[in-house]
Amino acid sequence: MIVPRDPHERTMKQATAIAHPNIALVKYWGKSDVEQNLPAVGSLSITLDGLTTTTRVRFDESLTADRFLFAGGEAPGMAGRVTACLGDFRHRVGATAYAEVESDNNFPTAAGLASSASGFAALVVAADAALGAGLHPGELAEIARRASGSAARSIFGGFVELSLVDGGRGIETRQILEPAAWPLAVVVAVTDSGPKAVGSTDGMLLTERTSPYYPAWVASSPADLAEAHSAVERRDFEALAAVSESSCLKMHSVMLSARPALVYWNGTTVDCIHLLRGLRAVGVPVFFTIDAGPQVKAICLPEALERVGRELAGVPGVERVLVSGLGGGARPVAG
Ligand code: PMV
Repeated sequence: MIVPRDPHERTMKQATAIAHPNIALVKYWGKSDVEQNLPAVGSLSITLDGLTTTTRVRFDESLTADRFLFAGGEAPGMAGRVTACLGDFRHRVGATAYAEVESDNNFPTAAGLASSASGFAALVVAADAALGAGLHPGELAEIARRASGSAARSIFGGFVELSLVDGGRGIETRQILEPAAWPLAVVVAVTDSGPKAVGSTDGMLLTERTSPYYPAWVASSPADLAEAHSAVERRDFEALAAVSESSCLKMHSVMLSARPALVYWNGTTVDCIHLLRGLRAVGVPVFFTIDAGPQVKAICLPEALERVGRELAGVPGVERVLVSGLGGGARPVAG
């Protein structure tokens, strides 16, 4: 019996995935291999649940190129990196069809909120589900990592560690603690929702080339990573607070000492730092971290969330605060 070919068969290879941004507590800044996008240091992060990227990937043999739509419109600035990531994915699974990708975020893009992390994590998980490729999370993290170093961490939920292996020639990303095992809360104080001035790759290369402190930054990272890992295992908030703030300020010190200097902060960023240090000094369980942008992320125990949110919202110049708990890794969803 001849079974008629389903006319929609070609367009059936589609799937939707969601992923959440992650926030590094021990920071990644610097590359040991630009071509391979290999980080010079390991990192440790928490994956959020309140902020979400949703991405639909549709592989279609009739397409002659990949197509990328962000928030319903063309996004020429991002399309090249999306195509490169899809190319990597196709190469890994032996696929040939081009894809149409539609993506959107429910939070401000490109403002130091790790939108590239959730973006590339959602992309590879949706591509994997669309083709039924069944890659292992570690393999998905590896593909996402080549597009954006921090994206490897958003494949996983909760507390995540990205470690250098093989003498720095490879990486391994894994969850070290489930989100429910230590449900920290996060308040993001948005101090400027415009796009950042210098992207992370350009910023890292400039820092490596020009900051006299860069070698010390790289050399001191493994100890920070070990200290943070141990603090997470022991659920020791004070210890995690101390090492996280130190890692953040060391990263910003190498940025500030680059030539020309990379100053990602604004005045409100500094005011938020002082507020949060003051709160911790009087016993409120909260600490700050800041990425390649002016937003301040406050990490706190759940009982301090209401106060931390209220106080940060009251800092002049804070445009708004976003509140989040810890969430799961990137995953396919219906849609
Ligand atoms: O993954 P990228 O290339 O966007 O770099 C991320 C760098 C920081 O956010 C500043 C630190 C980190 O570990 O996420």
